[in-house]
Amino acid sequence: ATEETLVLIKPDGVARGLTGAILARIEAKGYSLVDIKLVEPERDLLEQHYAEHAGKPFYEPLLEFMLSGPSVAIRLAGNRVIEGFRSLAGTTDPTTAAPGTIRGDLGRDWGLKVQQNLVHGSDSPESAARELAIWF
Ligand code: CMP
Repeated sequence: ATEETLVLIKPDGVARGLTGAILARIEAKGYSLVDIKLVEPERDLLEQHYAEHAGKPFYEPLLEFMLSGPSVAIRLAGNRVIEGFRSLAGTTDPTTAAPGTIRGDLGRDWGLKVQQNLVHGSDSPESAARELAIWF
């Protein structure tokens, strides 16, 4: 059935000029852009978004990275888009993400404490509803 997910093009993707390339992959796959905007998030918004990671070693570096520049927030729709976008994105670590995926083809390991891995996609229907309410 048609569902919606939150996709973020993170600050590394925007800064590297990959917004168009990433959107092209999403559109080529057949998903629909329902809403899209450039966002410079406040720390408060990111604390809500990343609540489940509070206390992990990469949490503070993650917030600093997400505060380092604008992200593109997308309300994306399609059949099984939650699972489908995560497949398109590839696994968290860009070095081992499969070729053909956004992270596998375009992502770099910068040797930092946090994976700057170009995109975010909600991991479940519950996360999608929660995250869409935070960003839109
Ligand atoms: P995202 O899907 O946005 O959710 C949490 C983010 O934290 C993740 O993408 C990565 O950017 C980062 N992250 C998750 N796990 C790790 C890890 N083990 N080491 C460093 N960064 C991570």
